[in-house]
Amino acid sequence: MIPSPSQSALDPAGTGADSIASLFWVMVVGGILIWLIVVGLAIYAILVPGRHDQKTTRLLVIGGGAVFPTIVLTALLTYGLAMLPELQRPAPEGSQVIEVAGVRWWWRVVYRLPNGTKVETANEIHLPVNEPVEFKLTSEDVIHAFWIPALGGKVDMMPGRENRLKLVPNRVGTYRGVCAEYCGEAHTQMAFDVIVESREDYDAWLSRLKKPVVQGSEAASEGRQIFEAAGCGACHAIRGTSADGVVGPELTHFGSRRSIGASVLPNNSDNLIRWIAETHQVKPGVEMPAFETLSPDELRALSLYLGDLK
Ligand code: CUA
Repeated sequence: MIPSPSQSALDPAGTGADSIASLFWVMVVGGILIWLIVVGLAIYAILVPGRHDQKTTRLLVIGGGAVFPTIVLTALLTYGLAMLPELQRPAPEGSQVIEVAGVRWWWRVVYRLPNGTKVETANEIHLPVNEPVEFKLTSEDVIHAFWIPALGGKVDMMPGRENRLKLVPNRVGTYRGVCAEYCGEAHTQMAFDVIVESREDYDAWLSRLKKPVVQGSEAASEGRQIFEAAGCGACHAIRGTSADGVVGPELTHFGSRRSIGASVLPNNSDNLIRWIAETHQVKPGVEMPAFETLSPDELRALSLYLGDLK
């Protein structure tokens, strides 16, 4: 398993998650207080027998049964509703727009560049710290849900519809995003990595992402031939090569990603070999066929080629 990056909604590192965590704590503390009052009154009624006069009884029934809940529920509703405009306000002009599509069981990630062009990656999202970002979320098959618990709220991804999510990450770090809507066999293995970094690191990453791959080392070129011969390019794209498939995750800078298979395994050579040869043991239900016929040497060369794509 991947050494787990932060995935806690109670340790917020973004504006949306801040509001949700505050709301959660207000509800928990408020709920405990009300529980204590109700249980306290119940215990009082049991331990102190005797009749109360009619006036006290009426006061308790009207006050405790109607006035008190009305005040508490109105206060909570007002507090919750007051957060909505901030969460729903569109991201400011010039914010980074990132289109993410849920696909059984991985994430297509497309960065819209200021000049209007797009650049695609998969299963990993980089964000500049303290800058607003807007996600445009959709699905290519069934309903998924996009959720980075530490950064913001959860939003459904529906086929044929575009939902939006705005957030401002405010702490550098690596966070885990997950699919939060049951979508089939590999639902629990549909996660992604979110890397919040300084503006400089983000710019450096984005400019690397834009470039097609540079031809790998001599050793990797054997792996490239195997990649082509095995037909991997029918599903996967590697910009700068003949591989231009769109069915599976884009692999142009695969070697720089943290994980394999939508955050299922840490990205290293041994895991990649396992992924290619035993795909269905690693992630039951995955659409990619296992390439069991490749020899250990071929698998090693292939993993070298893919690991070299940085
Ligand atoms: Cu996608 Cu659950």
